[in-house]
Amino acid sequence: MRWLAHGEHEVPAGTQWLSPREQAALAGIRFTKRHVEFLTRRFTAKRALATLLRREFSPAALAAIEIGNHPGGAPYVALDGRPAPIEVSISDRAGWAVCLVGPQGAAPAPIGIDLEIVEARSDAFVDDFFTAAEREFVRALPAGEARYEAANLVWSAKEAALKVLKVGLRADTREVEVAIDRRRRADGWAGLVVTARDGATFPGWWRRDGVFLLTVAGTVPAEPPSPLHGGGDLASAEPTHSWIGRPLV
Ligand SMILES: CC(C)(COP(=O)(O)OP(=O)(O)OC[C@H]1O[C@@H](n2cnc3c(N)ncnc32)[C@H](O)[C@@H]1OP(=O)(O)O)[C@@H](O)C(=O)NCCC(=O)NCCS
Repeated sequence: MRWLAHGEHEVPAGTQWLSPREQAALAGIRFTKRHVEFLTRRFTAKRALATLLRREFSPAALAAIEIGNHPGGAPYVALDGRPAPIEVSISDRAGWAVCLVGPQGAAPAPIGIDLEIVEARSDAFVDDFFTAAEREFVRALPAGEARYEAANLVWSAKEAALKVLKVGLRADTREVEVAIDRRRRADGWAGLVVTARDGATFPGWWRRDGVFLLTVAGTVPAEPPSPLHGGGDLASAEPTHSWIGRPLV
C-alpha cells in the first residue's frame, strides 16, 4: 500500500483537472467546507495515482484519472473513462487530505484510511460510540491530551475499518472494536486491529504526525503503507479551517 498527503493550499485553481462527472458533483455542493474538502481529497487521490502510474500532473492528465463514488459513497477509480482495478480510500481533516492506494491486481482487496486531529472528546462521546473495551483503553490513560489522542485514534480506526466494509457511518460504531498497539516502529507506524461482531478482523496501522492522526486498515495483514514521493508532511502541517469566513460557495 502507498499513501500521500496534500494540503488545500496546493489544490489548483479552476476545474479543468476534474473529469466531467467530478465537475458535476462539485457543482452540486453548496457549502464551502464540503467544496474545499471534495477538491482536496480529489487532488490528493489524483496525484497519488498519477505518481504511481507514472502519468503527468497536467490538468488534462489529472482529469483522465477519475475518483467516482458508488451509490453507498465508497470511491472507485476510472482511468481514461474506464473502471480500473485499483482500490483507493480517501479522507480529509482540517485542510489536509490523505489517499491510500492498494496493490494493483485483478480483484484488489478493499482498504480504508482516515485522518483526524487530536482534539478534545467528551466522556459522553466515548460512552456513546465506543465498546466497553475501548472505553477502558481510553480511561486507563491520564485525562487530557493522552486520553484525547486515544479517543480520536479509536474513532479514526473505526472509520478506516468501516470504509473497508464500505458502509461508513451507516453502521453502529460499536459493531467494530479497535485494539491499539502503542509500540511505534522506527518509521512511526504502530499496529492496530479492528474486529467486527461477526469475528472478521481488519488489521491496520496508525501514526501520529504533529496534531494529525492517521489510520489505515485492510482485510489481510500487510506492511505499513509507504509514502509516495511529492506529498506534504503532516508532521509540520498546520490544521486550517479556511471555510469559516465563507460558509456558502
Ligand atoms: C465514510 C464516512 C464515514 C466518511 O466520513 P468523513 O469522516 O466525514 O469523511 P472522510 O474525509 O474521512 O472520508 C470521505 C470519503 O470517504 C469515502 N466514503 C464515503 N462513503 C464510503 C463508504 N460507504 N465506504 C467507503 N468509503 C466511503 C469517500 O471517498 C469520501 O470522499 P469523497 O466523497 O470525496 O469520495 C461517511 O462519509 C459515511 O458514513 N458515508 C456513508 C453514509 C452516507 O452518509 N452516505 C452519503 C453519500 S451516499
